[in-house]
Amino acid sequence: MNICVIGTGYVGLVTGTCFADFGVNVVCVDKDAEKIAMLNRGDIPIYEPGLKELVHKNVGQKRLSFTTDLGESIKKSLAIFIAVGTPPRDDGSADLSYIEEVAGTIAENLNGYKVVVTKSTVPVGTGSLIEKIIEKGQTGSHKFDVASNPEFLREGSAIEDFMRPNRVVVGARSSQAIAILKDLYSPLYLIETPFIVTGIETAELIKYASNAFLATKISFINEMANICEKVGADIHQVAKGMGLDKRIGPKFLHPGPGYGGSCFPKDTMAITKIARENGYTFKIVEATVEVNERQRDIMVEKIKKVMGSSLRGKKIGVLGLTFKPNTDDIRESPAIDIVNKLLEEGALISAYDPAGMANSRKAVNSPIAFCNDEYEVADQSDALVIATEWNQFRKLDMARIKNMLKTAKLIDLRNVYDPAGMKEMGFEYISVGR
Ligand code: UGA
Repeated sequence: MNICVIGTGYVGLVTGTCFADFGVNVVCVDKDAEKIAMLNRGDIPIYEPGLKELVHKNVGQKRLSFTTDLGESIKKSLAIFIAVGTPPRDDGSADLSYIEEVAGTIAENLNGYKVVVTKSTVPVGTGSLIEKIIEKGQTGSHKFDVASNPEFLREGSAIEDFMRPNRVVVGARSSQAIAILKDLYSPLYLIETPFIVTGIETAELIKYASNAFLATKISFINEMANICEKVGADIHQVAKGMGLDKRIGPKFLHPGPGYGGSCFPKDTMAITKIARENGYTFKIVEATVEVNERQRDIMVEKIKKVMGSSLRGKKIGVLGLTFKPNTDDIRESPAIDIVNKLLEEGALISAYDPAGMANSRKAVNSPIAFCNDEYEVADQSDALVIATEWNQFRKLDMARIKNMLKTAKLIDLRNVYDPAGMKEMGFEYISVGR
């Protein structure tokens, strides 16, 4: 089967590459000529473990290619996956202009039956909107179907998530579209992946429901952590104690500075907006968003408290800038937000991140010192903050760190270290909910 994937961002590139690895002929299309040139040279524009090798393998075996020629790619494909961005507008709603543009081009190039699949997270009703645009824009009278196949990939483990998903959701109105999508995903039958076949609107909502629920779990545990601090309880034991109840589950109960990334912040805002547009206030998710914003301020307050009254002129070392480990993505990163808030208070920041420093340069509001490693960050700092839990920060030479710091203050926003051990070493150690 020939398919094309439109948009070589995170979702599109992983989807296209993994389908190629399933044995499908895939063309990945992007209007960004520079990005396509880069991919054609064998370079990968994003940092995702294992992706480079998989791209090279499938390009080498001639199942995967990259182009800017959208019209030609549409003409040659039976299935067209739309994986272009849906950035948030100022009011929190999703901007669908890229999707509308692509739907218009599909209409102009429709030369036979095709199934047009949305892979990006899109507001409920986008499938129907695409249907209308193609119907109105096509010059012939070709049959086509629209389907929704939301992605549930996590950055940092995207390939594993694609190859071994918990479920595949397919929203479609026609049996032909469902059959084509099932065929594309047929390698997953071997591992008995559940397939959920629904209407288009339902599939669109499943994605928002999943992300909003996970985000709510995080805000819930962060509030519990704040309460733990007040009553002298340990959040990890609370999380374990509640997570062992199978109805709750142990995952996404790790406290910290709040969720970030390109998905949860955008999708929680979008679903509350969708609800309000439909005359309903989604109170739980609105509170989730509010709690998440407050959590960042609470982290800054923690740092301020350890540092005494003022941060002006204090040198604070920050480890980790990305929104989570194993990515170079700093979008909505709590670490960046916290750095900017500390800068506002007059602190001097030195920072290190294994993959996110290039992106961070544009995101910090005043100059900061970007260091070569963790120890350079600690050198002559008044305190060290662990903002993102990269594996390499888990086994630092803490005796060396302590000697390098001006004052032995460690603010561990990801609860990487053991409080008793750190105190024993002589650190003033602050974490979250313990
Ligand atoms: C998230 C979802 O997990 C994916 O299923 C979904 O496909 C994706 O969004 C998307 O919509 O495209 P991702 O943003 O890559 O994936 O990252 P997660 O691993 O879910 O982490 C999101 C944020 O939550 C991070 O800032 C992380 O630090 C935070 N988090 C996660 C916590 O604070 N505590 C936890 O227990 C788990």
